[in-house]
Amino acid sequence: MTGITVNPAAGRIGAEIEGVDISRPLDAEQIRTIQQALDEWKVVIFRNQRLDHATQTAFGRQFGELTYGHPHHEPPKDAPEIYTIQHRRFEKQLGGDATRKQRSYAYAGNNGWHSDLTPFINPPAGAILRAEVLPNYGGDTQYTNLVAAYEGLSEPFKKFVDTLRAEHRYGANWSGMPQPSVAGFQKRVDENSLVAHHPIVRVHPHTGEKALFVNPIYTDHIVGMSPIESRLILGYLFDEIARPEYTVRFRWAPGSVIFWDNRATCHIPPRDLDHLDVERVLHRVTLVGEVPVGPDGRESEAIEGPRLGSEPVFTSTFFDRRDRAAKETVS
Ligand SMILES: [Fe+2]
Repeated sequence: MTGITVNPAAGRIGAEIEGVDISRPLDAEQIRTIQQALDEWKVVIFRNQRLDHATQTAFGRQFGELTYGHPHHEPPKDAPEIYTIQHRRFEKQLGGDATRKQRSYAYAGNNGWHSDLTPFINPPAGAILRAEVLPNYGGDTQYTNLVAAYEGLSEPFKKFVDTLRAEHRYGANWSGMPQPSVAGFQKRVDENSLVAHHPIVRVHPHTGEKALFVNPIYTDHIVGMSPIESRLILGYLFDEIARPEYTVRFRWAPGSVIFWDNRATCHIPPRDLDHLDVERVLHRVTLVGEVPVGPDGRESEAIEGPRLGSEPVFTSTFFDRRDRAAKETVS
């Protein structure tokens, strides 16, 4: 009826949606079709779209309330819901060598998979990312299906993890080693702690499916366990969510737009560009999420920090304004 077709892109996650111009207002049936595809395939890609900040924001609003761009990065002028991902810009603001070194340390002991902003009590429900500038090669984004990762566990282990809760912390980074800090950014993160306790198994509000809601960027430890117990179990779960059979890899092209369910997926940003002098610019809008609920019906708990919503989360000056003139040092 809608003219929309949904073509699966991999066995367990990801679909390509054709037959819709997402720069225009959608009717109720189109919205339902896209939402159903997202619930089933967890991440969908639209090709050959023409979006700008305003139409991307309008597209996102049809699926829920949008957050302020990002808690720690300044949005573009006149587009408060946009978060621009551009490593060359981050490096220019903070110092290239320091930023690259910090990234290499941050990823040294973990595989980089994450759901966005899980240290909030209400992590985003989803996000929509559009490409503006792309390198000629490299820079793909991968997604993994956290429902499939849960379903792949043995029955006794499922029962065990169903009872667990974990602490998610902004800046946790499962690297197991001290990290150099990029001065201004680290100060901002330190001054604005974000910590939440989430069930390790999260029940999806639309589908009722159980997802393995942990990731090595933000999940710090399992609540109530000894450090060695926590480390061994989380290490195993991080391996499980990264199994190739649960993943899909998308190659960006001009006009590509990816929409993912942040409750049921992790993603991994490209790490194959750091040594290349190339530009890559993408823009994200983010859907406000609800408080996660575990299999026992218990909600997550806020430990530090506010909810994520449409207003700026922190009132202190943005690091990139404050430190624009500062020359970077690694402490
Ligand atoms: Fe992300």
